[in-house]
Amino acid sequence: GTLATGGGALKTLEQFIIEREADAPGSKGQFSRLLRDIVVAAKIVDRDVRKAGLVDLFGDTGDVNVQGEVQKKLDLLAHEEFVRALRRGGEVCLIGSEEHAEAIPLLFEDCQGKYVVLFDPLDGSSNVDVNVSIGTIFSIYRIPDDHVGRVTMASALQSGRKQVAAGYVVYGSSTVLVYTTGNGVNGFTLDPSIGEFLLSHPGIRTPERGRMYSVNEGNYNSWEDGLKEYIKWMQTEAPDDTPPRPYTTRYIGSFVADFHRNLMKGGVYIYPANARNPNGKLRLMYEANPMALIVEQAGGRAETGHGPILDVEPGALHDRCPVYIGSRDMVDDAIGFLSGER
Ligand code: AHG
Ligand code: MN
Ligand code: MN
Ligand code: MN
Repeated sequence: GTLATGGGALKTLEQFIIEREADAPGSKGQFSRLLRDIVVAAKIVDRDVRKAGLVDLFGDTGDVNVQGEVQKKLDLLAHEEFVRALRRGGEVCLIGSEEHAEAIPLLFEDCQGKYVVLFDPLDGSSNVDVNVSIGTIFSIYRIPDDHVGRVTMASALQSGRKQVAAGYVVYGSSTVLVYTTGNGVNGFTLDPSIGEFLLSHPGIRTPERGRMYSVNEGNYNSWEDGLKEYIKWMQTEAPDDTPPRPYTTRYIGSFVADFHRNLMKGGVYIYPANARNPNGKLRLMYEANPMALIVEQAGGRAETGHGPILDVEPGALHDRCPVYIGSRDMVDDAIGFLSGER
């Protein structure tokens, strides 16, 4: 989208949240307060990310997380900042994080929180020490009515279509927050001089087709044939005019950054099943589902290769699923090759 113009100063995210309060009927402002808690945590993580190299926040914690990944200091710090902000806010009764094995109940006695928040506190950790864009992804559910007051781990395991909101932050050349509450997708850019996110990308729509595809071609040998044929088709036979050839590959190792670029310019991101990851690498609850809601709200498509990501019934908090996500026509092409129709 273009920078919003007219009326001088851009609208702040705070103003926008208030204006859109009607999106969460009956939440009596709790949902707006929850969004604001997340925004506060995002500003704190932004500050930490941008000074990380100066205060010994690079490198590893020395622990391995439940994913079997070496945990970065910033992984853990971002996790702790979001948990602290959500705990302080009081609107949340259950948290699920990439960096914590079990869902975390916030069940201090008077917690009347009605929301579950699942998040990837720091996406693209492998890029932390080399100054390449990283991000945060979050997904918000209402707790099922019959779970209020006695939340269980199962309260976190709802299919993606039930999300009440989903969003991400890209800590890139600027810090951008993009989210949806099911009523379109809007993007906000942080103005660090006033500490406010400003509405820079109202009503984001993703192009139906783009020139970029994002996939780790190092895993080529373990791809299923349909995917090999799809990538080869783009490189050799795809028609010259839609879009102007050649296709180009852009893959930087941070899902959030690859996703955001493709959302704005058109493109497809693929993390397929491969030898090391039989269900793909990305986690359903706090990477695939939130981005799937956003991309569908922006006119794109999000598939596992066996159906829409948002329809997957979760089995466990850290379930993984293959991901084909982005411009609708490009995901259509990919699924056509995977299903053998092409
Ligand atoms: P995270 O840093 O949260 O663990 O996520 C990393 C993910 C995703 O951000 C990125 O696109 C992908 O891992 C890169 O994986 P490969 O290095 O296997 O391509
Ligand atoms: Mn990780
Ligand atoms: Mn991630
Ligand atoms: Mn992560």
